[in-house]
Amino acid sequence: MNLEKLYQPIRQDMLAVDAMTEARLRSRASLVRRIAEHILLGGGKRLRPALVLLSSGALGYRGTAHHVLAAVVEFIHTATLLHDDVVDDSSLRRGHETANTLFGNAASILVGDFFYSRAFEMMVEVGETRVMRVLSEATSVIAEGEVLQLMNCRNADIGEAEYLDIIRCKTAKFFETAARIGAILAKAPSGVERSLADYGMHLGVAFQLIDDVLDYSGVESEIGKRLGDDLAEGKPTLPLIHVLQNGTPEQKAHVRKAIEISGRDDFGKVLSAVRASAALAYARQKAEAEAELAVAAIQSLPASPCKDSLLEFPLFAVAREF
Ligand code: IPE
Ligand code: IPE
Ligand code: MG
Ligand code: MG
Repeated sequence: MNLEKLYQPIRQDMLAVDAMTEARLRSRASLVRRIAEHILLGGGKRLRPALVLLSSGALGYRGTAHHVLAAVVEFIHTATLLHDDVVDDSSLRRGHETANTLFGNAASILVGDFFYSRAFEMMVEVGETRVMRVLSEATSVIAEGEVLQLMNCRNADIGEAEYLDIIRCKTAKFFETAARIGAILAKAPSGVERSLADYGMHLGVAFQLIDDVLDYSGVESEIGKRLGDDLAEGKPTLPLIHVLQNGTPEQKAHVRKAIEISGRDDFGKVLSAVRASAALAYARQKAEAEAELAVAAIQSLPASPCKDSLLEFPLFAVAREF
């Protein structure tokens, strides 16, 4: 399944969202424009705006606010990436040098703030109180997730439940929100809104689990990011947690040392431990189980091309190599 096929039912809408993104990035500060152009150059999968459009489309929404809110969601996502790459000290994103590498940390933080603020301006223009509530709550949860993760960097004793809590906050909450916004716009009954929210949450967990797998098993030119970025910061993701709990004494020792002290310097040893153990297969299985829960959550929606794409989306999230 490729993205073009997944986005087929919303092809025209995605073009409208791109145009809106372009128009709303105007700023009298030329650095905003330069960083924005740099980021948009790399493309990005635009999964979250697609979710807003597919979910509103599957529920029969007729209007134009979904275009604005899809752009809002992508702006907020972009802001989190600008900040995340500073926090993670990452040098590659979307196949290009990161904004922090090219323009510095200060510029990335400030332009990230601009993306956030512009997004909130646009959200207020739409004026849907429930959307405002759900979106503003989500941004707090994402920030909290990033802080929780920071607090657990270099912690080799974290368990799977704590890890899952972090990825629900930092990533899955926003997938939940994107899918839910579509339901709110379409004025869906609360049970249907709940189904879309559950769908997004499970999809988001599956998505982040695979992101963490790809950090050890991906191909740099495909994922557009440097392998080992998680280890460099001592981030205990599920593949490492699995080795720490199930590996041989030697594998456990390598992973513990890398998380606690050496980071990327021991990437080779950690990679061997992760690949020799069942860690990646285990994390993939968990992602597949979450993908199945996502699919199950929206079975009762009426048949439509948008629903078909929503059903395929979790399969893409798990099978992706980028
Ligand atoms: C990257 O998200 C951040 C994570 C939550 C892993 P995406 O993989 O959706 O990023 P782009 O927008 O496609 O680059
Ligand atoms: C990104 O998490 C989460 C947010 C964007 C809030 P990661 O740090 O794992 O994502 P990548 O690998 O840098 O894209
Ligand atoms: Mg990162
Ligand atoms: Mg990652």
